[in-house]
This record gives sequence, C-alpha cells and structure tokens, in this order.
Amino acid sequence: MGKYFIITYGCQMNEHESEKIAGTFEALGYERGESVEDADIVAFNTCCVRENAERHAYGNIGALKPIKKARPNMIIAVGGCMTQQPGAAEKLRSTFPFVDIVFGTQNLSELGEMVKRRIETNKRVVDIVENNAIAEGQPAVRNSFPNAWVNVMYGCNNFCTYCIVPYVRGRERSRSCDNIVEEVRQLVGEGYKEITLLGQNVNSYGKDLPEKVDFADLLQEVCKIDGKFRLRFISNHPKDFNEKVVKVMAENPKICKCVHLPVQAGSDRILKLMNRQYTAEQYIEKLDMLHKIIPDCAVTSDIMIGFPTETEEDFQDTLKVVERANYISAFTFVYSRRSGTVADRMEGHISDEVKKDRIVRLVDLQNRINREQSKKYEGKTIEILCEDYDEKRDLYLGRDEYGKMGYCKSDENLLGKFVNIKINDCSGISLFGDIVSIE
Ligand code: 5AD
Ligand code: SF4
Repeated sequence: MGKYFIITYGCQMNEHESEKIAGTFEALGYERGESVEDADIVAFNTCCVRENAERHAYGNIGALKPIKKARPNMIIAVGGCMTQQPGAAEKLRSTFPFVDIVFGTQNLSELGEMVKRRIETNKRVVDIVENNAIAEGQPAVRNSFPNAWVNVMYGCNNFCTYCIVPYVRGRERSRSCDNIVEEVRQLVGEGYKEITLLGQNVNSYGKDLPEKVDFADLLQEVCKIDGKFRLRFISNHPKDFNEKVVKVMAENPKICKCVHLPVQAGSDRILKLMNRQYTAEQYIEKLDMLHKIIPDCAVTSDIMIGFPTETEEDFQDTLKVVERANYISAFTFVYSRRSGTVADRMEGHISDEVKKDRIVRLVDLQNRINREQSKKYEGKTIEILCEDYDEKRDLYLGRDEYGKMGYCKSDENLLGKFVNIKINDCSGISLFGDIVSIE
C-alpha cells in the first residue's frame, strides 16, 4: 500500500490519537514513512485550543499543495479538534480543495473505512459527527515507549469560558473500568514502564457510568496490576480533585508523587469570569490538603495571562498564587480568542503589548521557581525512568517520580530502564547526574 506520515499538534490526547491513526493505517497495510515527501498518505491531527496551533496546521497543510500537485495519488487526511469546529469542514474545503479526507475527533474509528472509500471512489470524503459512543479495541501503534497513554474518559463538561475543548470534544464519557484495567495489564505485560491515564478532567471519571466507580477506585484497581511501573494521570480540575484520590496516591507507591492541577489564574474575579468554579483560596486549600497527606508531592500547573478585563492587580494575584504554589514546573499561556466561546464575546480584550509584558514576567517567575526547585536536588540520588536519548548532547534523559527531568551519560542503551543517578549539577532547570545503578 505504501507509506504513511502523521503530523500531530496539541496535547497528549492528540499524541495518543495519532497512535491510533497510525494503527488504522498499519491495519490497512501502510508502513511508517520518514517524511511527507515519501508518504502515500499524510494525516494532520490538529489542535485548536489556541490560535497559534491552528495557524501552524493551516500553514503546513497549505505547504502540501505543490507536493499533491506533483503526486496526485497521495492522500491527505485532516482530523482532530480543528475540524470539529462549526464551519471548519467548509473552510477546509474552500481553502484546501486538495485535501482528500476530513474526519472529526469523534469518528476516528471510521478513518479506515474513509480511506478505503477515498481509494475506491476517488472522491473527497468528509465526515464530522457528534458521536458519544466510545470505540473500544482500536489498534494503536505506540511510539512513546516506555510510556503508554491510556484514555480513561473523553470530552469535557466544564465549559471554562475561554476554552474550545467542550465544543470540539463533546460531553464527558468514561470508559469502563474493566476495559481500562485490561488495557493497562496488557501494556505492562508488553514491557511499558509508565502508564499515563488521560482525560480532560479525570476527576469526573465514572460519573456517567452505570456502575458506582470513581477515579480513586480506578487508580486503586490499576495499582493492583503486578510488575514495576509508574502511574501518572492528567488532567485534574481543582474543583473536583479530592482527598479520596490523594489517599489512594499516598497508599500506592506506583502512583507518581506529582499532580497536574491547573490554576489558570489567581484573581477571584477572573476565575469567576473563567467559570472555573473555585477561588484562589479554595485552590490553595486543595494544595494544603494534598501536602498534608503527601508532604513532598510535586505540583504542576497551567497558567494563563491576558484573559479579558485582566488588570495589573489581577495579574499580581496570579503571580502571588504561583509563588505560593511553588510549582515544580508549569505551562504558561497567553489567552487566545476562540470563536464560539463565551470569553470571546466578552468586553475588555487585552492588548498584545500588555499580554507580552505579563507573559514575560510570569515566565521569569516560574523559571526562578524551577531553578529553586532544582537546587533542592543538590547531592541527592534520584531514580529516573529513561524515556529518551538526546543525540546532540549524547545524554539519556528521564523523569523522577516528581516529574523532574534528569540527564545522564551512558554507553549502554538505557531507554525504558529505571536508573539511579547522583546529581552533580542542579544549577539550571534540568538536573545532571552520574549513574549509581541501573535497574
Ligand atoms: N487561550 C489560551 N490558553 C488556553 N487554554 C485553553 N484554552 C485556551 C485559550 N483560549 C490552556 C489552559 C488549559 C491548557 C490545556 O490550555 O490553560 O489548561
Ligand atoms: Fe477546557 Fe476547562 Fe474542560 Fe480543561 S476543564 S478542557 S480548560 S473547559
């Protein structure tokens, strides 16, 4: 059949969905290609959470026009969050008439059929649906070893006013506990050393299921699986993150001591406008609860600046929370207008100049905190799970159970190995160490 190549934008959910797209293509007989140039089928798995991601995708799809002209039999498929926005399919059709297949986030399982239809009919295939069913058993060709992504739920019901996700990924729906546990069991059996459970808001897990099961129960079940592996999960919503989950974390050494708890902003007025359903104080109370039970638990966050009407004072409140939360690392974002969201229709959008100034100050603060966090590692020995090899620096890298990145040098292939390293340089954001022992 030829070769496939997939270009992925956005979050880990998309990374994993691209693994399913790869699985679909391989089931059809395609092999993985090295680049767009040598591919017979190219898929773009798009993101629309911020304008930048969307611009990139549009730019790169546009760049395929001459290649498609030279090789008209090459199939171009576009899927993911961008296509699921109202009007996107029409926009793609008029801007990029050479795109062969357009699929949404909720009919990924039909992609194989769509490719066959495109080949048989030689006609454009566009299929975007709103489908709340969960497709089980889709083949995935994983490429994040030693980590494996596992979906626990899809969609989001929170409707934070800035966010497009609930519109493009539909309502929350959970996979059955049995299916999840079975998938993890298989992956651990295949040698995966880190399992990351994925959901837009994993703390809502199970609310829509007939059986009485919540996220803490699910974690408990997954931890019962034999073998040495690490368990991580993303993402949490502070309003739903609870003591029951923290207690399960405390009792199970397989669960990493690291929680992603996005704060977004530190001003109560802005948090209310964002529809986050907590105040800065309530957020801090969650952190206190977490640290009362697991004193050394690391916390990471998503922080946004430049939401409509954000004043300097509001921004200062964000800096205060960031300082107080002492994140081990954080993703920082500039608010981006998303058509169709409530915030987009608000008054008082912030100028690019002010946004730029605030993001620089926020990043400076978080960088300072990152470095302070690093310093605590002076002279310590940590266990990292080697997940990658940095060719340029000839170093292996991996994270410890707190999510901190450590580097080490080795002639032996360490990918997928638990390695103890003694830190000898913690002056920057990442740590460097000498190998003490290998699993
Ligand atoms: N603009 C900027 N950042 C956004 N995020 C979600 N929507 C937007 C937007 N419109 C950020 C949030 C979320 C992360 C995944 O992306 O911080 O937690
Ligand atoms: Fe978007 Fe809020 Fe849902 Fe996260 S919880 S996906 S930020 S609406």
